[in-house]
Amino acid sequence: MINSTGWKQLKPGKLMPGKLRIIDQTKLPGEVVYIETDSAEEIYNSIKRMAVRGAPAIGCAAALGLGAVCQHSDAVSRDEFVQEVKKTAAYLNNSRPTAVNLSWSLNRCLKKIEESAETDIFLLKELLIEEGIEILNEDCNLCKCIGEHGAKLLKDGYGMLTHCNAGGLATGGPYGTALAPAYIANENGLKITVYSDETRPLLQGSRLTAWELMKNRVNVVTICDNMAAQVMKEGRIDIVIVGSDRIAANGDAANKIGSYGLSILADYHKIPFYIAAPYSTIDPSVENGDEIPIEQRNADEIKRGFGKLTAPKEVNVYNPAFDVIPNELIHGIITEEGILRPPFKDSIYKLLKNKK
Ligand code: MRU
Repeated sequence: MINSTGWKQLKPGKLMPGKLRIIDQTKLPGEVVYIETDSAEEIYNSIKRMAVRGAPAIGCAAALGLGAVCQHSDAVSRDEFVQEVKKTAAYLNNSRPTAVNLSWSLNRCLKKIEESAETDIFLLKELLIEEGIEILNEDCNLCKCIGEHGAKLLKDGYGMLTHCNAGGLATGGPYGTALAPAYIANENGLKITVYSDETRPLLQGSRLTAWELMKNRVNVVTICDNMAAQVMKEGRIDIVIVGSDRIAANGDAANKIGSYGLSILADYHKIPFYIAAPYSTIDPSVENGDEIPIEQRNADEIKRGFGKLTAPKEVNVYNPAFDVIPNELIHGIITEEGILRPPFKDSIYKLLKNKK
């Protein structure tokens, strides 16, 4: 859930300075602490250390953050300002590699000022801030639409399995992507139980998904990742819905490590497997999942996750943060426009044709 603070328009060309405002997700569920910042380094680090995380959320945070940083620019010409914005955007874009929403939103902000003929620096700063706010508002609306389409897949009494956190915390808020169908179904009076994988090593499922679902009175059961097969075999799961960090042109979808395994388990147990994501998560420049860059993270996340040593100090560790679900194991991609069905190459092409 992303927000901004300040930025009241006093009169055209005169905005009160504002800041990016985010919940520090590393402190959840124990404490709800906000970070308010207009520092490029703090925004970069907040994304890298996952104080803000989840593909659409980091896109929104970067866009609003770019405006917050650049409002303080001392540039005296349009060219100088555009160069500064480009430099800050390139810096923020390096914070995490897998979620395409990050570069998508930064590029959209850049395009906005590059395409404007405006030469007044104050008005250019305003344009940048407005674009960040628009990206945020758009994301919230897209997620609600994802929820409305996805809720049609849920029936009263359903068990839905999800992985990682693809809820309000992972997006502009409050519905999220994969959790949006459950939220809408719940609002419509259906009794849904969300099984939330704990999601090793950083526990986004138990720390964040369980926290936000409980806060919103949706029935949630947390399980360890290695219990999913058993829970499916026991007949508790009717559908799997996860989010995505980047969807290739052929429908292969990167998501939190463990999602690939879940898709194989769902296939074996004949349980439909869905991805929920807005168009900003689709990267048509990437032909298939093999081309998606997979973030490698620090060994300490596995060896001493939350401060306690749980493996020999010197042991070698491999810690890829994401994996790729092959499109043939995906029943549908729930988007703001409806549910895309295979062949995804065609349905994705049709969806993107209508976007700017
Ligand atoms: O490493 P994270 O916590 O940023 O990974 C997040 C996920 O994998 C989410 O499922 C994905 O970004 C979709 S969020 C709506």
